[in-house]
Amino acid sequence: MARKFFVGGNWKCNGTIDDVKKIVTMLNESEVPSEDIVEVVVSPPFVFLPLVKALLRSDFAIAAQNCWVRRGGAFTGEISAEMLVNLGIPWVILGHSERRSLLGESNDITHWTNIVLAYEPVWAIGTGKVATPAQAQEVHVGLRKWLSEYVSSEVASSTRIIYGGSVNAANCKELAAQPDVDGFLVGGASLKPEFVDIIKSAA
Ligand code: G3H
Repeated sequence: MARKFFVGGNWKCNGTIDDVKKIVTMLNESEVPSEDIVEVVVSPPFVFLPLVKALLRSDFAIAAQNCWVRRGGAFTGEISAEMLVNLGIPWVILGHSERRSLLGESNDITHWTNIVLAYEPVWAIGTGKVATPAQAQEVHVGLRKWLSEYVSSEVASSTRIIYGGSVNAANCKELAAQPDVDGFLVGGASLKPEFVDIIKSAA
C-alpha cells in the first residue's frame, strides 16, 4: 500500500512572535513537492497556534504539541482535543519522549486510524547524532511487524512510520530512500530554512 511521505516540524518550546512570523514567511515562500507527494505539518507552541493558523499557507497543516485526552471541564491549564478541532487544528503530537521523560506520560493510545507513528531514538534527539539509514529501516520494519502481530496487517501496511532525531538537510535523503521510512519528525532543523530541503526529500 502506498504511504504518502510525511514531514512534521516540531518547534518544541521555541520562538517569539517575530520568530514565528519569520518561519511562516519562509515556509509560505518555499517551493516544495505537491500535496500528492508530501504532507507537511508544523507544530508550534500552543500560544502561537492561532497566529500560525492565520498566516500559514493552506497546503501545510498544523499540529498541537499535546492535548488533554478527556473532554473539557475543570482541568486548569489543559487544552482539549475539541478545542483544537474548533480552532481548525487537525493534528496533535502525543507521547513525545520529552514528555514521557520530563512529565511522566505513558502509552495510553487506543485508536490507530489517523495515527502517524514516530520512531525517535532518544540518543538522537537534539544531539546531532542521527541513526544510520539501515538502523532506521531495521527499527521501522520491526515496528511494522509489531503492528501486524498486535493490531492488524492492514494497519501495519498503511500506517506511516516516520523517523525523528537530528534529521537535517544533509542526512534526510538517504534516510528518505529507505522503504519503511515514511517521513520525518524534525525538531531543531524545522526552525531553519533547511526544513524546506527536508520536505523536498519526499520527491
Ligand atoms: O520532535 C522532534 C524530535 O524530538 C527530533 O528533534 O530534530 O531536534 O533532534 P531534533
